[in-house]
Amino acid sequence: MGYLHRITRPLLFRLNPERAHALALRVARHGGGLAGRVLGGKRVDGLERTVAGIRFPNPLGVAAGMDKNGVGLRFWSAAGFGFAELGTVTPRAQTGNDKPRMWRLPPQRALVNHLGFPNAGAAAVAERVRRTRRPGDVVGLNLGKNRDTALEDAADDYVAALQATADVADYFAVNVSSPNTPELRRLQTRPYLQELLGKVREAAEGKPVFVKLSPDLDEAGLHEAAETVRDAGCAGLIATNTTLNKPEGCDLQGGLSGRPLAGRAAEVLGILRAVLGREFPIISVGGIDTPEEARARLEAGADLIQLYTGLVYEGPGLANRILRGLKSR
Ligand SMILES: Cc1cc2nc3c(=O)[nH]c(=O)nc-3n(C[C@H](O)[C@H](O)[C@H](O)COP(=O)(O)O)c2cc1C
Repeated sequence: MGYLHRITRPLLFRLNPERAHALALRVARHGGGLAGRVLGGKRVDGLERTVAGIRFPNPLGVAAGMDKNGVGLRFWSAAGFGFAELGTVTPRAQTGNDKPRMWRLPPQRALVNHLGFPNAGAAAVAERVRRTRRPGDVVGLNLGKNRDTALEDAADDYVAALQATADVADYFAVNVSSPNTPELRRLQTRPYLQELLGKVREAAEGKPVFVKLSPDLDEAGLHEAAETVRDAGCAGLIATNTTLNKPEGCDLQGGLSGRPLAGRAAEVLGILRAVLGREFPIISVGGIDTPEEARARLEAGADLIQLYTGLVYEGPGLANRILRGLKSR
């Protein structure tokens, strides 16, 4: 943990998690590049790589959900991140599930969230990104469906969100794995996924489409989803979203993220690599909160990595600590 975060964390942890997050995002939004550099440290160079035809300044990204409305691009890049996945955005703005809907589990270094995609709507997010994006920023747009859209019509929502954000996205992430929108995860099964990806790929007009999977799929489910994604001509997979498998005695509603997810996220990466071979791009996410875990994930075959919960416990200086760790090889 950086020294500044050692001071600010106890203050932030006195607020409920959603308020603390809103406050942190306000700093990211208004403090921009300066706050990013002060809180994050010096940018680490020399870790560039090209994945799915996109040149990434380094392999570490901000995971979806951290910056749902795309307010902090300058902050993320100044803090060292090589890319930011914004969203999940839905075609229409929505408020999400009832509060409280986000909890910290400090002993486990984990979070539970039941947000349900609160966001400003795809067009509004795109407009903000259009104004703030700078050359060299790598931006992913994570797409979802509105809560009140029937599963049968889901593809229309993904396509609408994609079209509204197309000019500001370097890649799209099709989120079919959030546990907090009823039935969403059924879209991971072959018939739904095939139809959905056919339409999304057509709308994407050649721009890379990644698909984000749940860690709660069993091995057969992961095989089925991975093959469907590959056969649909998608650019890659993101693994994983949050899990419904919570620690013993935890009866909070929603998805678990952070350190307890690391083992399963690494396991899923191994399963996907075994199905898809070495070449198919995979972004690994889930419980990465140390330089060692970041390196282990890349060595296990991840092309890129992302994190969210680690930032809550470690602060934005974590990005640079991870990157320095990767470089010292
Ligand atoms: C509060 C919160 C909100 C999230 N919102 C989204 C989201 O909107 N879309 C999405 O694809 N993933 C979302 N995620 C999942 C993260 O992107 C990531 O897959 C997961 O948290 C595991 O990574 P971590 O252990 O580093 O947090 C969210 C996670 C958290 C903790």
